[in-house]
Amino acid sequence: MTSHQAPHRVFNFSPGPAALPTEVLEKAAAEMLDWRGMGVSVMEVSHRGKDFMEVAAKASHDFRSLLKIPEDYAVLFMQGGAIGENGIVPLNLMLPQGKANYLITGQWSARSAKEASRYGQVQIVANGADAKGRYQRLPTRSDWQIDPEGAYFHLCVNETIDGLAFDGLIDRGDAPFQAPAAMPVVADVSSTILSEALDVSQFGVLYGGAQKNIGPAGLTFVIVRKDLLGRAHPLCPSAFNYQIVAENDSMYNTPPTYSIYLAGLVFEWLIAQGGVESIAKVNAQKARLLYDTIDQTDFYYNLVEPAYRSKMNVCFFLRDETLNTQFLKESQASGLLALKGHRLVGGMRASIYNAMPLAGVEALVAFMKAFEKRYG
Ligand SMILES: Cc1ncc(COP(=O)(O)O)c(C=O)c1O
Repeated sequence: MTSHQAPHRVFNFSPGPAALPTEVLEKAAAEMLDWRGMGVSVMEVSHRGKDFMEVAAKASHDFRSLLKIPEDYAVLFMQGGAIGENGIVPLNLMLPQGKANYLITGQWSARSAKEASRYGQVQIVANGADAKGRYQRLPTRSDWQIDPEGAYFHLCVNETIDGLAFDGLIDRGDAPFQAPAAMPVVADVSSTILSEALDVSQFGVLYGGAQKNIGPAGLTFVIVRKDLLGRAHPLCPSAFNYQIVAENDSMYNTPPTYSIYLAGLVFEWLIAQGGVESIAKVNAQKARLLYDTIDQTDFYYNLVEPAYRSKMNVCFFLRDETLNTQFLKESQASGLLALKGHRLVGGMRASIYNAMPLAGVEALVAFMKAFEKRYG
């Protein structure tokens, strides 16, 4: 079947797997059947062949340059997603102490702590949940209880479900909970990676699933300071052992080749947009527009303290919850997809990663205002 009409595309607010830049999908579609004149798709070639090795090396190089990743960090392309990393991180880093610190700021960090407790002693530094189980602010610093002997300090910089974010930079030095400055910080950055600048040197490990800001699901990225390699538990599967993966340039096992290829196209797209600093400005503008719209009326509300509001996942509620179904039905009919909030939180959530253009948020805001006029 052939069609000369432009394909039907909507504004997709899915939290992940999330929207990809249209230009990237167009390039991938054009190359699907005949990649590099080889008469095959990139999915159909060996990961050890020269052509794919070039793709993987270029993707890694572009990722490094976009994030300004220092030389003393290894970039690993793995599988298992961020939930896999919840077990893989302790298997790689918890020894010899056998314990680690976890800061709970939302659903995902709570889940990380729970999984890590299967491998050793987990110290809950603080839990930001309120009496109703909602996360609206970072727990007060003076209430943190850090185990100074913990092998690392784990946190999540952007809680995708709760719409709460912080920069992940923590001062671990003030009394009375003095922790050694050498304690590496391990951060789940699944939903903010490449959306704004990040000082990689402040972290021991950064990890996440690719399916929000990088590419399709199936690819997990890990950025690990090289001095942290070589500590894995003897029972850590070799394919999940950071040192082994690093020594084999992420080709110890067959990597998710198509996801790496697409990630490479997304990196090239982001470089063409002016890089992380440029897209960060657009991201800030998108988030401001949406939060301003929510704050300007009683019809909608958001509970997260302004200083901790996520720029990637904007959660909001309708004061009259009986209108939720109608809101979702009408928004979808208006070409605004996947605005339903996570089942644990309810309400609405607009995920506005790098691939969401400002025009998408403008369309959403116009819809929200019109909906309020109709039903407010
Ligand atoms: C912050 C964060 N951590 C972990 C996960 C789980 O990731 P995965 O499904 O790739 O294992 C997600 C997925 O939405 C997430 O947003």
